[in-house]
Amino acid sequence: MTVARGLARTWCEVDLARLRANTQALLGLLTPTTKLAAVVKADAYGHGLSLAARAFVAGGAHWLAVDSLEEAERLNAAGFDQPTLVMGWLPPEAYSEAVRLGVRVVVYDRETINGLARAAEGLKRTVPVHLKLETGNNRQGVRLDEALALAAQIARSPGVVLEGLSTHFADIEDTTDHTFARRQLELFQENSERLGAAGHRPSMVHAANSAATLLCPESHLNLVRPGIASYGMWPSRETFISALMGRNERVVLSPALTWKTRIAQVRAVAAGESIGYGRTHQVTHPIRLAVLPVGYYDGYDRRLSNLAYVLVGGRRAPVLGRVCMNMVMVDVTDIPGAAAGHEVVLLGEQGSERVSAETLADWVGTINYEVTTRIAPHVPRVPVGDLSHLDFSFRKERQ
Ligand SMILES: Cc1ncc(COP(=O)(O)O)c(C=O)c1O
Repeated sequence: MTVARGLARTWCEVDLARLRANTQALLGLLTPTTKLAAVVKADAYGHGLSLAARAFVAGGAHWLAVDSLEEAERLNAAGFDQPTLVMGWLPPEAYSEAVRLGVRVVVYDRETINGLARAAEGLKRTVPVHLKLETGNNRQGVRLDEALALAAQIARSPGVVLEGLSTHFADIEDTTDHTFARRQLELFQENSERLGAAGHRPSMVHAANSAATLLCPESHLNLVRPGIASYGMWPSRETFISALMGRNERVVLSPALTWKTRIAQVRAVAAGESIGYGRTHQVTHPIRLAVLPVGYYDGYDRRLSNLAYVLVGGRRAPVLGRVCMNMVMVDVTDIPGAAAGHEVVLLGEQGSERVSAETLADWVGTINYEVTTRIAPHVPRVPVGDLSHLDFSFRKERQ
């Protein structure tokens, strides 16, 4: 068994070569005219923003997409100069900073366009915007009549440039029946054409998230925005099955994140004793129990109590009793070599065993997206893989 070194009690190893390979695999599905924006919001789905962005850029990502201006600022401070799309809401106080940073902003209301126009005028700069069209998600977009009015407003605002039109699929990953997604795409294309007929022809037209990138080449348009697939995870079982059923090109995606801790202590517990808060596990025969210095404070979900297993020495060690704030107890009775200091895998592979984000998600009733994004920010993200020797403090370096 590997004995972990260093101060950290729990950490995530992020395999940058795998992240790079995922981007390359996704690029392999695209025609040369389609660009790829790696979605690195939510701290790169929990993988560490600049680590992951660096690997994606090394893999050929042309753009980066984030949710907030704060994420765009972090990318800028780390030296990235790829076009960056801010997809989420901007508070009005952020308009000037958005213009100053030169980010692309997704817009869907008059007020934001006015505010950006004023900020652009004040700074004597221009701001590229991407108008979001409503096609069935009812989250951010506008319908055709409003889109025409907003596009006209943008055309009248000298500092605001309509660079893109976008939409977002509502259920493409939830089902193997993509009728609704196809309808969304048709509506998007019809409305893009109507805008074009009115003289609004932005250079970037984009719709595809991971599932659409994987399943639906006609959705690729000028730009795709894959998030979850970039991290080596399938958006859902339905997407995986659809890919198997369809004639889509086979893509190999490699999960890149391994969440680890190490054994703090191994103790013997006699039959008749109980384990942890609430005494929810009753010991029926003598066992060896390992105490792990990780808990729900670190993002190890309390609903994994008495349910999950972790990997010790390449074998499964069941969680016994309740997950505590800072500790978890696991049964290592059948793993005789387990000792204090040994590495434990909470998520990822060890030997021939694996705990996937999907397995953890099933255990707690959620999705892989939530599993990796919920690992607490204080848990260090450590780069591994054949890019990890690269200097990550670079500035304004172009790939
Ligand atoms: C607007 C938008 N585009 C793209 C994505 C990436 O989605 P996925 O992770 O399913 O590829 C997201 C993520 O939720 C999103 O909100």
